[in-house]
Amino acid sequence: MTPHNQAKKDEIAKIVLMPGDPLRAKYIATHYLTDIHCFNTVRNMLGYTGLYQGQTLSIMGSGMGMPSIGIYSYELYTQYDVDTIIRIGSCGALIPSLDLFDVILADSAWSRSTYAQQQSHDANRIQYPTLEINQALKKAANEQNQWLHPCRFHSSDVFYYEAGIDSGALANQCAVVEMESFALFHNAKVTGKKAACLCTVSDSLVTHQETTAQQRETAFDTMAQIALGGSLY
Ligand code: HPA
Repeated sequence: MTPHNQAKKDEIAKIVLMPGDPLRAKYIATHYLTDIHCFNTVRNMLGYTGLYQGQTLSIMGSGMGMPSIGIYSYELYTQYDVDTIIRIGSCGALIPSLDLFDVILADSAWSRSTYAQQQSHDANRIQYPTLEINQALKKAANEQNQWLHPCRFHSSDVFYYEAGIDSGALANQCAVVEMESFALFHNAKVTGKKAACLCTVSDSLVTHQETTAQQRETAFDTMAQIALGGSLY
């Protein structure tokens, strides 16, 4: 048990899928897993363990932003012996060639966040996912005839800008913006564990198009199925 997670150690699988929204964790668990068991309700950050095609898998919300995913993922890696966390989130497009609902795979995350610096004196502005997990996700996407766009993410601390998005994001070749992957990848690195991040494009900071809640749900299913498929490799 931790201050944020009431689960006992053996209640959580080696692989955890992490949407930002805990209700999405509940949705995936109830729609795709069998024999589900809810292991956490602290702060309503719901977590479930169940079976996917015979393999034990967990799904838990991360909340929004690097401090939140930082806490939950660090506890999963260090207190619950979790090996792999696959974030499944949403992102905003920063380049015109990405369309709404495209599924994006992080090949790196650039951030001005002090998360890594404060956590372990790591001054790198770029953090990386685990190649092996990215390969598993690409394989699963191929099998499902889905295309994953691999690109660099900008992990931001800000959703509402008064002065426009950080110019460093484009200068550093980031194609999308979200708020979590930098901290997740850093935690995986310092704990010797594995991480990856898939996101669907929910809005465009170039064209200012947005998606409806219903559309986001459908797009979320495509991404969840890729993550579930990837978890089997
Ligand atoms: N900014 C940050 N995070 C996001 C966005 C965005 O525009 N869209 C989805 N997640």
